[in-house]
Amino acid sequence: MRKLTSKEEQWVTDTLRKIGDKMEVVTKRNLGAIPYTTDENGRFDDKSKTDICWWTNGFWGGEMWQLYKLTGNEMYKEEAVKVEEMLDENLMNIEGLDHDNGFKWLPTSVCRYKLYNNKESYNRALLAATNMAGRFNIVGNFIRAWNNWDNVDRRGFAIIDCMMNLPLLYWASSVTTDPRFEMIARAHADTAGKAFVREDGSVNHIVIFDPDTGKIVGKPGGQGYKEGSSWTRGQSWGIYGYALSYKYTGEKKYLDISMRIADYVMSEIPDSYLVPIDYRQPADVDLEDSTAAAITASGLIELSKALERYDEAGTFGEKADKYLECAINLLKTLDEKRISWGTDTDNLLNNCAVDYNGDGHNMSIIYGDYYFIEAMMKLEGSALEIF
Ligand code: GLY
Repeated sequence: MRKLTSKEEQWVTDTLRKIGDKMEVVTKRNLGAIPYTTDENGRFDDKSKTDICWWTNGFWGGEMWQLYKLTGNEMYKEEAVKVEEMLDENLMNIEGLDHDNGFKWLPTSVCRYKLYNNKESYNRALLAATNMAGRFNIVGNFIRAWNNWDNVDRRGFAIIDCMMNLPLLYWASSVTTDPRFEMIARAHADTAGKAFVREDGSVNHIVIFDPDTGKIVGKPGGQGYKEGSSWTRGQSWGIYGYALSYKYTGEKKYLDISMRIADYVMSEIPDSYLVPIDYRQPADVDLEDSTAAAITASGLIELSKALERYDEAGTFGEKADKYLECAINLLKTLDEKRISWGTDTDNLLNNCAVDYNGDGHNMSIIYGDYYFIEAMMKLEGSALEIF
């Protein structure tokens, strides 16, 4: 991976300073909360009051840990610990646990355990990992996504997003020396590589298996435009998730999958570096998703670093540089065009989207902010390895 130019280094330093300045004010006025999005006045909501089991509830904790690393300000550490403790209510609610346990307990309990060897954090994260491992379908070799809310039978559902949760299982095997967690993570990654990733490197969001036979029975469009389309956040989960499976297993096949998705994504990213909700949405639709831009950037940096580790002979040096270049362009575009730097609003990223067909468009979403901060800190070499 090439070094940053001095101009790029200056931009990283300046951007991290802007993040630190804004988030100090924002965090002080949201003490004890777990934000997801902002209201019409640009102020954060508090998911701890309305839905403690919401899948994004770990990101604020992760953001607090990254900001603690960035600034050393104890306020962030205290808030991160509060989020972790509030999530105990979720841990005791079986209906609120699912494949997304990684998104909740990696940025909170695993992060704290890695920093301080905290026994309670260890227990929480291992309970979350054990529950996630219990979702493995042994015939279909996949980790089941979601539960049966709204009376929909989801026993055979798997989603590409789950790749980002696998580090919880890799961590569980590493701390217990019990290989079962990692076996499950690898089996899921292998299945997803075949069932989700298409010939051209694009990925499906959802694959539905028959839960009794493991046969694939459907590949709906999920949060993307339609069946066969290419939901941008799903593509970003794929790039990042497979780079992580490489990081934890050292298996070249996962690096290859991450590169295939990344090459496809780089061929689709518009010249503006403003990322749509779906790379195959109609040309006259200008809906965007800044979260996909931030996650793609962080995933490409991860991939670039992974290639550097793998590639002693330098075979992929050029590719690694291209991924890094693309990540920097995505992040610069967010910085210049899609971030509210003023302290009148709580969020960083604008123009985020929940999905294509719903009405959650042009909003702020907490994980967009998290991955933007993480990616900028990765460029500086200072990010905590939360995933
Ligand atoms: N994991 C759900 C989403 O990305 O919206």
